[in-house]
Amino acid sequence: MTEFVINGGRKLRGSIAVQGSKNSALPLLAATLLVCGEVVIENCPELSDVDCALEILTYLGCTVDRCGHSVAIDCTSMHAHDIPERLMKRMRSSVVFLGAILARAGRAEMTMPGGCMLGPRPIDYHIDALRALGADIDSEGDRLICRACRLCGCDVFLPFPSVGTTENAMLAASASRGSTRIMNAAREPEIQDLAGFMNAIGIPVRGAGTSVIEVEGGIRTHGTHYAVMTDRIAAGTYLCATAVCGGTVELTNARPEHIEALTGALRRAGCEILEKPGYCKLTAPSHIAPVGIVETRPYPGHATDMQPPLMALMCTAAGTSVFIENIFESRYNHIVGLRRMGADIQNEGRFAAIHGVSKLTGCPVTALDLRAGAALVTAALGAYGETSVSHIEHLERGYERMDEVLCGLGADVIRREH
Ligand code: UD1
Repeated sequence: MTEFVINGGRKLRGSIAVQGSKNSALPLLAATLLVCGEVVIENCPELSDVDCALEILTYLGCTVDRCGHSVAIDCTSMHAHDIPERLMKRMRSSVVFLGAILARAGRAEMTMPGGCMLGPRPIDYHIDALRALGADIDSEGDRLICRACRLCGCDVFLPFPSVGTTENAMLAASASRGSTRIMNAAREPEIQDLAGFMNAIGIPVRGAGTSVIEVEGGIRTHGTHYAVMTDRIAAGTYLCATAVCGGTVELTNARPEHIEALTGALRRAGCEILEKPGYCKLTAPSHIAPVGIVETRPYPGHATDMQPPLMALMCTAAGTSVFIENIFESRYNHIVGLRRMGADIQNEGRFAAIHGVSKLTGCPVTALDLRAGAALVTAALGAYGETSVSHIEHLERGYERMDEVLCGLGADVIRREH
């Protein structure tokens, strides 16, 4: 087991270039299956979820050549159309390979995906969207067997703007005859990045970033070089950490337009934030003010992934804040650890009221999922004394060398193996 041992109370100062986006890199890697020829993905973060996506591509028969943040992929020799259970269970995003394999091979087999335990995470929207495009999908226990002799472009209506379903529908639509309109599509920046990649390989995609996305199917693709966008969740986490600790941190490659809901909340908390294109700087106040009500929503609303680190900040605010988690049923895995550190949090279903206390105190805590772990690290950085955060394998799914990034800003974080 690996843990972070954090001695809190140090101000953060300095500058960071934020990693490439995990949630963007994963569908982009799946989308490389649409290309016969070489694709180079730049700014690809070094994360365990990315390792898993690359293992899936290798298993399928693709050539993968990784050098730091650059990955060259050639899917010309793809020969398999199934994903083994051990890879499916490692992350939720493996499900986005469904649309891509179906588009490329006309059939796909896989088990239900794994991922963070945030309550029930069904894939019914994914299946309905692919069926609307003409896929036959049967399930045998935990196993999905999908066939698509001929996918046909059509209007696909999503009951909820699900990020993964929008991605799967875009990928499958690329191999459909005619054009597809995805209605009530997710508007997240990661969807725009996937559309950018699909356009770069020759598939016309219009409307990404709005609720209606159009994909032209059956177009011949070609290789490309494409850089993954900056990770808005990692950027937001480092801003929250700075606010907790005090100090000033600048993000030199940020996309401030992707984190407006968060920066709005941080300004309400008293932070001074300077934004320019590609740049964001946060200076923390001496006392954090409560942010009021934070309700998570699909983009451009408050991101559910930012809720845990923002809650960690509110634990020491001068008053009460209320969080309403609308996206996932149980995304409050961080509360138990925050309480251990002395936070005063009432939680009932989707609601959590955080009554700020004057300080948190370090103690051993466990990261139960990726963003819950980010919340505990954020809280520990501002806490009095030593906190050990165990099970950081969750953090390493989404944050690239988080300990080194934080130490570079002046934090005291040691990675310890047991
Ligand atoms: C993606 C992100 C995740 C983020 C989430 C919401 C990746 C790798 N992960 O996850 O970090 O927190 O978007 O912004 O990009 N749902 C169903 N049936 C389905 C699909 C989804 O009921 O078939 C429900 C989910 O259980 C959840 C909600 O819809 O309650 C939103 O899920 P979705 O947008 O699909 O999230 P993911 O794509 O899994």
